[in-house]
Amino acid sequence: MFPGRMRIAVVPGDGIGVDVTAEAIKVLDRVCESRGIDLDAVYFPWSADHYLQTGETIPPGAFDELSRGYDAIFMGAFGDPRVPDMKHAADILLGARFRLDLYVNFRPVRCLDDRLCPLKGFSAEDVDFVVFRENTEGSYVGAGGHLKKGTPDEVATQEDVSTRKGVERICRAAFDYAVRRGRRRVVMSDKSNAMRFVGDLWQRTFFEVAKDYPGIEASHLYIDALCMQMVKDPRQFDVIVTNNMFGDIATDLGAALQGGLGMAASGNLHPGRVSMFEPVHGSAPKYAGTGKANPFGAILTAGLMLEHLGYEAEAQAVERAVAACVRERAGTADVGGTLTTAESGNAVCERLRFDDPAGEAPAGTIRSKESVENA
Ligand SMILES: NC(=O)c1ccc[n+]([C@@H]2O[C@H](COP(=O)([O-])OP(=O)(O)OC[C@H]3O[C@@H](n4cnc5c(N)ncnc54)[C@H](O)[C@@H]3O)[C@@H](O)[C@H]2O)c1
Repeated sequence: MFPGRMRIAVVPGDGIGVDVTAEAIKVLDRVCESRGIDLDAVYFPWSADHYLQTGETIPPGAFDELSRGYDAIFMGAFGDPRVPDMKHAADILLGARFRLDLYVNFRPVRCLDDRLCPLKGFSAEDVDFVVFRENTEGSYVGAGGHLKKGTPDEVATQEDVSTRKGVERICRAAFDYAVRRGRRRVVMSDKSNAMRFVGDLWQRTFFEVAKDYPGIEASHLYIDALCMQMVKDPRQFDVIVTNNMFGDIATDLGAALQGGLGMAASGNLHPGRVSMFEPVHGSAPKYAGTGKANPFGAILTAGLMLEHLGYEAEAQAVERAVAACVRERAGTADVGGTLTTAESGNAVCERLRFDDPAGEAPAGTIRSKESVENA
């Protein structure tokens, strides 16, 4: 990476992934133009359309190229009813996570405006925690199979694979982040009362790792209890660490606390290596091309990418601009506005300001100077 230069691989994907990626890159372009950063965004067509036309999901050697030639990767979303087995999504999205060993799925759950907070008696500032979702193991590794498929005696298995190395590194990432960012608590969540073998590994590893971080309060909640507590009182959480599937599910609930899936951002990280950024939501095919998709989650994701690449002031400017749009209802219908996807992207560009001192952001917008760098 060269200071002042940013080379990004962009894979818009399917459905609304295409719509929201266009707005995220529009905002990124505006940021770079305003700040004298030379942005080189290189687009890749990998998607359901590309797969159906060519039979290729992602070409051989693509991940090597991505990991060597780019500072970061930005992806939209994948999923198309014409590809019911999701082969292309598995090869591209899970492929990136697994092949690039992006073991941290970093998902901030932060509400930007009181109006978006769905919890009675709570305000935006009460929803401010991060989830570290293990991203390369668990039940998403594809271990399992069918027996007697298509018969009345059919059997299907799906195995949950956890390794000591995998659990330890995600737990360490969560604690390191808590230390770096002045967060006081790390909660590990599993289902060790029912899933005893992997649960035992997670329990032992988490509490062993916790001993190296005496200043951080380490505790445990079963995943069902965690979901209940997220709704009952989100203020109790600073950092949550959990496995691949539980993190997937809990962060959709987290997105609801932020104002919906259209508001949620994520980074797929391997500290020190090329990382990949994508909004939390999927391809929502019924909204594709209609102008109804909220691009703010994708734009906030571009903000996470900026922060990860060391452009913290620029990332904060992006978040402030999105928060201002939400406050002024300058967004899509899901956040109470009347704008289209593209108009919402324009609205963010119009509100980008780089002169606000970080400490003077309006209440409900930037409350901490957290960075995802090395998260
Ligand atoms: N990371 C990914 O690429 C990813 C993640 C989840 C789902 N998927 C795939 O996406 C497809 C659709 O899945 P789904 O319908 O379960 O989930 P989804 O996230 O695509 O949409 C669920 C609902 O959330 C709302 N929503 C989501 N994003 C929004 C946005 N930006 N603006 C406004 N509203 C938004 C819509 O009401 C939508 O119907 C499936 O093929 C699924 O497998 C992909």
